[in-house]
Amino acid sequence: ESEREMKDCESVGNVVPSLITALVVLWLSMGVCRSQLSTNFYANSCPAVFTVVRRQVLCALKNDTRMAASLLRLHFHDCFVNVSSSGCDGSVLLDGSDSEKLAAPNRNSARGFDVIDTIKAAVENACNATVGRLNGFSEDASVDPTLDPSMAAELQALCPQSGGDGNATAPLDRNSTYAFDNHYFKNLVEQKGLLSSDQGLFSSDDGEATTKALVQAYSNSGSLFFRDFVNSMIKMGSISPLIGSAGEIRRNCRVVN
Ligand code: HEM
Repeated sequence: ESEREMKDCESVGNVVPSLITALVVLWLSMGVCRSQLSTNFYANSCPAVFTVVRRQVLCALKNDTRMAASLLRLHFHDCFVNVSSSGCDGSVLLDGSDSEKLAAPNRNSARGFDVIDTIKAAVENACNATVGRLNGFSEDASVDPTLDPSMAAELQALCPQSGGDGNATAPLDRNSTYAFDNHYFKNLVEQKGLLSSDQGLFSSDDGEATTKALVQAYSNSGSLFFRDFVNSMIKMGSISPLIGSAGEIRRNCRVVN
């Protein structure tokens, strides 16, 4: 079905099937009830909303596979990055000189706002004015001793202490960059986490006491990871959403009405 829908897109790109499958799984999971939000909210005012959003997301992925990751991160940052407001209220989409877009975790790295605009336009087109809410190295450059030595050497070659390319990038999920699967956790077990916050989940003292067993379990079972991922995304998306008269349905995602 996804493939058929993607033929409707105008742009041409390369899509990794497993990523699409993952997205569809994620999508289906949205039918599960949340504690406060309702998936039936637009049942009367915009029954096509899921179909329209889904088609636009698939089109965006066809154009740029990475966009799946970027949209997922935007959702996370909407819920957690707190400048003017907190919670999953679409505040990350607002433009402005003191907006969350310019907060350190987002500046120059959050992406996908134009895709949100396109999705919003498609939804508005279908249903007028209804939908709106929609490592390794420390600062002194010493190497984390828990990091796999060959990976450490690779990263040092990519980012030497002087004379390197400031725009060089390294994959967050090496050897499985464009697939959404449990490979990230396999990397951690091999002590190959890119960020300190990744590596620490399995290899730090704090991680030993808290997250290590989970990393081990997810590295052994893709289905356990997918099940827990779905539940945790639903849980995260329920953090302080604005409900009823506490919020508003924006006509333009970038500005309040
Ligand atoms: C709180 C601990 C976390 C830290 C310190 C962290 C840090 C980062 C950093 C530094 C990047 C790279 C940004 C760049 O390319 O410039 C990144 C990317 C990313 N993060 Fe996180 N993150 C955290 C938690 C999460 C969570 C909980 C999620 C998912 C819900 C997430 C999803 C992503 C995704 C999908 C990307 C790739 C985005 C893209 O390629 O456009 N992160 N993160």
